[in-house]
Amino acid sequence: MGSIQIQGGRPLCGEVSIQGSKNAALPVMAASVLAPGITTLKNCPEISDVACMCELLRHVGAKVYRQENVLTIDATEITDCRLPREYVTRMRSSVVLAGAMLGRCHEISLTFPGGCVIGDRPIDMHIQALKELGAEFTENGDNLSAKAARLKGAVIILPFPSVGATENAVMAAVLAEGTTEIYRCAKEPEITALCDFLNCAGAKITGQGSGHITIEGVERLHGCTYEVEPDRIVAGTYLIGALAAGGRVFLRNAPAGQLGSVCELAGFMGAKIAAEPAGIRVERQGKLRSPGFVETGIYPAFPTDLQSPFLVALCQAETMSCLTERIFNGRLAVVEELNRMGANIRVENNCAAMDGGQKLKGCSVTAKELRGGAALVLAGICAQGMTLVYNRHFIDRGYEDIVRDLKSLGVNIGGKK
Ligand code: EPZ
Repeated sequence: MGSIQIQGGRPLCGEVSIQGSKNAALPVMAASVLAPGITTLKNCPEISDVACMCELLRHVGAKVYRQENVLTIDATEITDCRLPREYVTRMRSSVVLAGAMLGRCHEISLTFPGGCVIGDRPIDMHIQALKELGAEFTENGDNLSAKAARLKGAVIILPFPSVGATENAVMAAVLAEGTTEIYRCAKEPEITALCDFLNCAGAKITGQGSGHITIEGVERLHGCTYEVEPDRIVAGTYLIGALAAGGRVFLRNAPAGQLGSVCELAGFMGAKIAAEPAGIRVERQGKLRSPGFVETGIYPAFPTDLQSPFLVALCQAETMSCLTERIFNGRLAVVEELNRMGANIRVENNCAAMDGGQKLKGCSVTAKELRGGAALVLAGICAQGMTLVYNRHFIDRGYEDIVRDLKSLGVNIGGKK
C-alpha cells in the first residue's frame, strides 16, 4: 500500500521534468493490438496502470518488453480475446481494448468494468458505438462478450463526448469496411495522440481534436515507433502545487498548449505563468486571489482530473470559492480528508463551497483514488507540520514517482512503496 510523508509549510523551488502521459499511453498501447508487428513507444511512463495494460496485452498473446521508458510491443500473434477479470476490475480503462480486439480478432470478452470512487462509470456509449459498427453483444451476469464478423463503417453520434467511447469507436473503425464519421466526439489531447499514432501505423483518420472525426477503413496496419506526449495532468498537478504553496518552479516539457484553462485560472489567482518552448515557468509570491465560481468541463475547459488538486489552492485563497464537478458524479470524496487538515469545504451535490483563508495543518490522511491522493500530497506541502498520506499505491497509478518529482521542487518529502 505504501505511504508518503511531507514536512510542509515551505514554498516550492526547483525544476522537474514531466513524465509521459498515462491517458495517452494507455489507449495507444491498446491500439498496438491492431497492428500485427512491432510497436515501439518512447517516453512511456513507468506507472502501475501501464504495467496493468502490459499484463493485459501479454494475456491476449502480445510480447511486451520495457527498457527504461521505452516499451516494445510485438502484436504479431494475438491468441486470446478474453480479458481477465482481475485486470479489468483493477483498471477501468482496460475497456478501451474492446475496440482494438474487435478490429483485430472480431471478438472480445470482458467483465463489466463497474464504477469506482469517482462515480458511476457505465460503458453504454462504448457499446452503442461498437454496435453501430456491426458488433453484436451478449451479456451473461457481469460478463460481456461481443463478436463482429465484419466491421462496417457507420455514422456515429455520441450522446456525450466520452473520451473512452471515442477511443473505442476510433479503434474499431480503422480496419472496418468503408468510412466512419464520429460526431460529438471527445476533443481531449489524448484523442489526437491516439489518432496520430494510428495514422503513423497506416490508418486514415482526419478531424482529430475537433468534434467530428472521419476514419477511412484500411486493409491492414503495421507496427511503428511513436513518442508519448508529456502528461498534462501531472504537469497541472505540480503547477497547482506552486500556486497553492507559493514559490518558483520550472516544469520541463509541460504542454502549455494543453493547459490553457488551468494557466488562465492560476494567473487570475496570482501566479505569474510563462509558457516557453521547453516548458512552463510558474511563480507565486503574494496573495492568493479567489476565482469565485469554477467548474470542470470537457476539453478545453478546466479538467476534472485537476479538480481535487485545485481544491487545495481554493481553500487557502483569500475569499470564498465554489467548484462544481460536471463530469463525474462522485469525484469529491477527497473533501473529507482535506477537511481533517482544516480545509473547511462544504459539499452539496457535486459542488464544493469554501470560505477560503484556511491554514492547513499536517495530519495522517488516506488516499482513496488517484487524483484525490495527489491532492492530499499538495495539501501536505502547504500544511504546517507533518502529513502522512496512506495508500500511496493509488497515486502510483498515474505518477511515476511523485516523491522524486516533488523533492526536485524543494519539498521535504519521503515515502515507502
Ligand atoms: C478518461 O476516462 C480518463 N481516463 C479520465 O482520467 C478522465 O477523467 C476522463 O476521461 C474525462 O476526461 C483515461 O483516459 C484512462 P469519459 P473515461 O468516458 O474515458 C460518462 C485519471 O484520473 N459515461 O469521458 O472513463 C461517465 O460516467 C482518469 O487519469 C457514460 O455515461 O471518461 C462520466 O460521467 C480518471 N457512459 C463521463 O461520461 C459511457 O459509456 C465522462 O466519462 C461512458 C462515459
